Amino acid sequence: MGELKGELKVDEGLKETIACASTICRIELIEGTAILEYRGYNIHDLAKNSNYEEVAYLLLYGELPTKSELELFSEELKERRELPPQIIGLLTHLPPFTHPMVVLRTAISYLGSMDKYIHFKSHEKSIEKAKSLIAKIPTIVAYFHRIRTGQKLINPNDELNHAANFLYMLHGEEPTETEAKALDVDLILHADHELNASTFAARISASTLADMYACVVSATGTLMGPLHGGASQKVMEMLREIAVPWRAEAYVKEKLEKGEKIMGFGHRVYKNVMDPRTLELKELARKLAEEGEPKWFKISEAVEEAVYKYKKLLPNVDFYSASVYANLHIPDDLFINIFAMGRIAGWVAHIIEQYETNRLIRPRAQYIGPKSREYIPLSKREFQSKKLTVK
Ligand code: ACO
Repeated sequence: MGELKGELKVDEGLKETIACASTICRIELIEGTAILEYRGYNIHDLAKNSNYEEVAYLLLYGELPTKSELELFSEELKERRELPPQIIGLLTHLPPFTHPMVVLRTAISYLGSMDKYIHFKSHEKSIEKAKSLIAKIPTIVAYFHRIRTGQKLINPNDELNHAANFLYMLHGEEPTETEAKALDVDLILHADHELNASTFAARISASTLADMYACVVSATGTLMGPLHGGASQKVMEMLREIAVPWRAEAYVKEKLEKGEKIMGFGHRVYKNVMDPRTLELKELARKLAEEGEPKWFKISEAVEEAVYKYKKLLPNVDFYSASVYANLHIPDDLFINIFAMGRIAGWVAHIIEQYETNRLIRPRAQYIGPKSREYIPLSKREFQSKKLTVK
């Protein structure tokens, strides 16, 4: 019992492992092109024709809504945008230097403590929690930013959709049509991506039948790492360091020669294949640059060219997101939160799917440390300078 079968090999990073079956997101690479679909609908069609509310509905319920279903769902989100005073109190008490992703995961956990039905997992109760989280996350992000910068809080505006309302609450003025559309499309593009690390973390938590808030906290913590959603903030740091397009090539060359990674490049799934989201985000970044500050887009293009020249790597979803967010005047340290604002729809859809098809996720490790050692009583142990090493 519990023996690993001889033929099983460690799959480092689970690169070759299919961890579950899912009806939510399809990623397939066919003849050098990547297909990305949510519930069977192509990401390009959704980016062109949908809005975030419609895509969130699709991910949650499995079907595109009718007009009246979408109106009702959008209203339900609007009704849930406001934060309980306790959450506003929390945002006020957290040190202003706290990273906004740490704030977000703390506030989500606090929301859980205020939900009397936290442990209920019926489909109906899970959908209710999901709607509340989708609606409240933008308010948490915008309010924390306004509190830490000493600005007055802006109530959610029922006249504005999900994306436009976030920009309004953040900046205190309504966004232009181009800005609102850009964020809306960005949220659609970030809404789901199969078993990325944060979604997998959420599903692992859900597989233990942990409550939905705990699952989303797991996901939020995982998203923050620079190898995942944290890359967009690092991309912006890089663009600021490069400062002018003509310095991009030397910067990239030097980093690569030192064996350092260029943030916003490479992907576990899209190897030598362009991430379809990158194509859309590049166009968004180009459009915002044409109507506003062109600098970040120009530097980004120069970096993309140089990374391809020296390493043959393609940009991932985090790369052009950075110049999109910069041109929406979003502070750098909120970039990962914007990712979470989009991805929450996918997280909750995956958590619900995990609850409803559950099997505990519990892989094995191949033990490679010392075996069957004789226990030495404390009084007889001698100082050992040698640290235990893992080969
Ligand atoms: N810059 C330089 N070299 C890179 C980069 C990069 N950004 N990404 C991959 N490589 C190299 C690796 O060093 C490795 O080279 P080697 O074979 O000579 O050792 C090879 O390409 C394969 O890369 P791995 O890291 O093994 O690929 P893996 O699938 O494990 O990792 C990852 C994918 C984590 C995204 C990686 O490409 C990376 O670290 N990128 C930078 C961080 C980033 O942009 N993260 C966001 C990803 S998208 C998202 O999560 C939303």
